[in-house]
Amino acid sequence: MELPPLLREAVDRALNGIPLAELAATAAALSQRYREERRDGALHVGSRQDALAYLAVRLPATYAAVRASFAAVAAARPDFTPRTALDVGAGPGTALWAAADCWPDLAEALLVEASPVFRACGEALAVGADLPRSIWRNADVARDVIDSEPRDLVAMAYVLNELAPEARPRVLDQLWRATADTLVIVEPGTPGGWQRILAARRQLVESGAHVIAPCPHDSRGKRSLRFAEGAP
Ligand SMILES: C[S@@+](CC[C@H](N)C(=O)[O-])C[C@H]1O[C@@H](n2cnc3c(N)ncnc32)[C@H](O)[C@@H]1O
Repeated sequence: MELPPLLREAVDRALNGIPLAELAATAAALSQRYREERRDGALHVGSRQDALAYLAVRLPATYAAVRASFAAVAAARPDFTPRTALDVGAGPGTALWAAADCWPDLAEALLVEASPVFRACGEALAVGADLPRSIWRNADVARDVIDSEPRDLVAMAYVLNELAPEARPRVLDQLWRATADTLVIVEPGTPGGWQRILAARRQLVESGAHVIAPCPHDSRGKRSLRFAEGAP
């Protein structure tokens, strides 16, 4: 799944004039951190250079995985037309762009992101684009309360692996409370990612979630859940 043309242009503008060799070294270091699933207290994307490297080498794949997950939700739930969204660990706004592309009626989104530079990068990408009204908030979801009324669509993509294992149940609980209709969780397609998805699935089903994909769950809860695994 290609980046939408306006996002592609915004990324190209952001990367314009950045020496390729510099970016390649940062991208390699960033990929190494992700591969190792390093949790050393530092955010993976802590500098503007890290954010630009993410745009260059990771965003196309995370966008494709998130957009494909939304497409699967739309196929399973053709009646679902979210008006409001919450994206936790929004990074450069990946889920916002993907949700706007999938559901043109989406009107408003709250994006929560721990890294100030990543947030600034996401806000800059969105300038001038025809996107839903967006509110960006800097917060650490492992520590802070997600202060949001329930929203139709809630997304968290490639974030669980950055949270300490002991923080995950509380974050999932908060996400579920903030979900009016559908929660989408995306994790890397690795053995570790799959274990995190299984643990999240168990917890959320116990909280009354009805899983729409993969492996639909029998009981018919009021709100639903979609899990995905993506390549990055
Ligand atoms: C791999 S990036 C994914 C970004 C985006 N969701 C995507 O799919 O492209 C993980 C994001 O989660 C954010 N993050 C990690 N821990 C967080 C926390 N405790 N609170 C809020 N955001 C967090 C990181 O700063 C980063 O932007």
